[in-house]
Amino acid sequence: MRALIPALAAVLSLTGLTAAQPRAAASASATAAAALPYQDPSLPVKTRVDDLLARMTLDDKIGQMTQVEREALVPQSDLATYRIGSVLSGGNSTVSPNNAQTWADTYDAYQRTALTTPLAIPMIYGIDAVHGHNAVRGATIFPHNIGLGATRDPALVQRIGRAVAEEVSGTGIDWNFAPCLCVARNDRWGRTYESFGETPELPTSMATYVTGLQGEKLGGAPASVLATAKHFIGDGGTTNGTDQGNTQLSEAELRAIHLPPFKEALRRGAGSVMLSYSSWNGVKLHGHKYLVTDLLKGELGFTGFVVSDWAAIDQLDGQSGFTAAEVTTSVNAGVDMVMVPHDYKKFLSLLRGEVQAGRIPMARIDDANRRILTKKFELGLFEKPLADRAYTGTVGSADHRALARQAVRASQVLLKNEGGVLPLAKSAKLFVAGKSADDIGNLSGGWTMSWQGSSGNITPGTTVLQGIRAAVTDPSRVTYDRYGNGVDGSYTAAVAVIGETPYAEMHGDRPGAMGLDQEDLQTLAKLKASGVPVVVVLVSGRPLDIAAQLPDWKALIAAWLPGTEGGGVSDVLFGDHKPTGKLPMTWMASASQQPINDGDGKTPLFPYGFGLSYATDPTPTPTPTPTPTPTPTPTPTPTPPPTPTPTPTPAPGCTAGLKVTNSWSGGFQAEVTVKNASTTPLSGWSVAWDLAGTTVTNIWNGALSAAAGRATVRNVAYNGAVAPGASVSFGFTATGSPYAAGSFGTCHVH
Ligand code: GLC
Repeated sequence: MRALIPALAAVLSLTGLTAAQPRAAASASATAAAALPYQDPSLPVKTRVDDLLARMTLDDKIGQMTQVEREALVPQSDLATYRIGSVLSGGNSTVSPNNAQTWADTYDAYQRTALTTPLAIPMIYGIDAVHGHNAVRGATIFPHNIGLGATRDPALVQRIGRAVAEEVSGTGIDWNFAPCLCVARNDRWGRTYESFGETPELPTSMATYVTGLQGEKLGGAPASVLATAKHFIGDGGTTNGTDQGNTQLSEAELRAIHLPPFKEALRRGAGSVMLSYSSWNGVKLHGHKYLVTDLLKGELGFTGFVVSDWAAIDQLDGQSGFTAAEVTTSVNAGVDMVMVPHDYKKFLSLLRGEVQAGRIPMARIDDANRRILTKKFELGLFEKPLADRAYTGTVGSADHRALARQAVRASQVLLKNEGGVLPLAKSAKLFVAGKSADDIGNLSGGWTMSWQGSSGNITPGTTVLQGIRAAVTDPSRVTYDRYGNGVDGSYTAAVAVIGETPYAEMHGDRPGAMGLDQEDLQTLAKLKASGVPVVVVLVSGRPLDIAAQLPDWKALIAAWLPGTEGGGVSDVLFGDHKPTGKLPMTWMASASQQPINDGDGKTPLFPYGFGLSYATDPTPTPTPTPTPTPTPTPTPTPTPPPTPTPTPTPAPGCTAGLKVTNSWSGGFQAEVTVKNASTTPLSGWSVAWDLAGTTVTNIWNGALSAAAGRATVRNVAYNGAVAPGASVSFGFTATGSPYAAGSFGTCHVH
């Protein structure tokens, strides 16, 4: 919902209507005041677009295709002079003082300038609110997408999208360059944390974020914000995980791995798509007519508009800056709006020249304008172009922070819990250490208050240490030293909150080692030397190479990049919320395994989908064998020869083999490979085995049932189909001594 233009509000008040009246009333007076059809909200959007387009000059049209960084618009009146259609705040473009009110005032000032043009076409303002309204100090910072993927909760992600839309709307901004629907296939990539997961299914399921941002229908409800499905296509699949690199895949692989999330986003009505800097088999996406026009707009029927990435068209010829040829190549490939973002006068001049020379058809210009204007009309920008101050107060609100804390809890993945050291007792004497224990900036990661983010107290929130101190019965029994100085054997446990410091995009690429930094290793050494149990909370944007250190840790929680609500981490540490998170990315046993992904046959430290919970959770225990009711002694009849109990012979279709992947005193972790040993495809399978007194405490990539001392694991949706000779796997943890490796249980086909 947007605020009325003051003039229109004045008209309404004269007619006894108030600005708060429903859209119909506003349109009645708008119709009365509307001199032209495109200004009449009672008319169909297509009619309004047709009417407006017919009134636009070439300069009006090329202006609509131009997006400019706010800080580059000097003087601000250039917005009107050059008919600029869109403004953005890039990662470092914040206002001062940095608060919601100033953002809303700034937005309105730019919009009022845009509305002084002859056709009064409102501008649309875009920003990266990728994990909350992260440019605005005081906004709620939610977990980055990798943590949201660990929740496996699409409905929660939709609610987060809604909350972000309210905070964004409260500052006037209409367009969010989110969600990233990237499928991160190599954890070396600096944007791994912007991915919901490594399989196409997981990011696809989280496209609910689009509905959260836009609503069921763009502009159909208050605080509707235009979503951006990004970055089309294959940004997470580059060789070596190099940001803006080359995705070397067959078309079938590209479609199978990287296309499904975009299909779902389009099905949900995503109004814009941002192209990827990367290339497909050596051809830059920003010049790829087949993928952008034929596939995205043609085959998938995308009717929104395509926006370039920041200065991305400059890369087409491999030289710095942009040329007429690059403008023509990108626009003719299907780019509708160019994020220039600085030299807009040069861009407009080149674009105008290319159209006048006939190298860019007018039909392409008109198509781009239709797409852009349709979204502006659908958003309601023409009727209510100014910030809706009713939502300004939602920025950083208690409700949104509570939602974020819920998301933090649900995103924690418990990877190890030796001897049940977790949950911690609130009466415990605890030593807390680590660079990220008391640091909101580290908890938030990149894209927070600045493009790269930064360590330190950069915005209001709750650190993990503050969460711990708030949870325990006596805060004086919690000692904190970032480096572990002072720890001794008197503590119940030491909690080390360690991991990565903030980064974004290519600055986060890790082509070399992927382990902990020296500070963390030195801190851990001090804690280890004290002899107290060490609980590690790993704050990182990706799995890290920690296999060598893991044996020294009693427990490990992957916290990802939780944001401002660090209390959600302590909720899990003390068992106020039992861990439910599941790995959205396969966890390497060594950096040399990268890329390592579910189903690729490599043996990880922890598999995709893995996640433990606390023993008190209702783990699947075998139903007790019923005590036979005493039967009356039958009259003696000749005892027939004993019929041998038929031992279930493995079905001809499949075999199962077990490998122990981790063990500790009192329990172990195993991976079972199920192979299709037949010549026909399997559509389903199960593996059964005698528990022999053990209890399965956790299961992934399979569905467990247990009865009469036997466990049966059935395939789940995505691993039931197995081609002849192929294999799939599931994993579990169990109490007791490890089972013997090799042939395992009885495999049945279904
Ligand atoms: C950046 C990112 C993109 C972002 C855009 C605007 O370089 O690649 O995700 O939306 O520029 O900040």
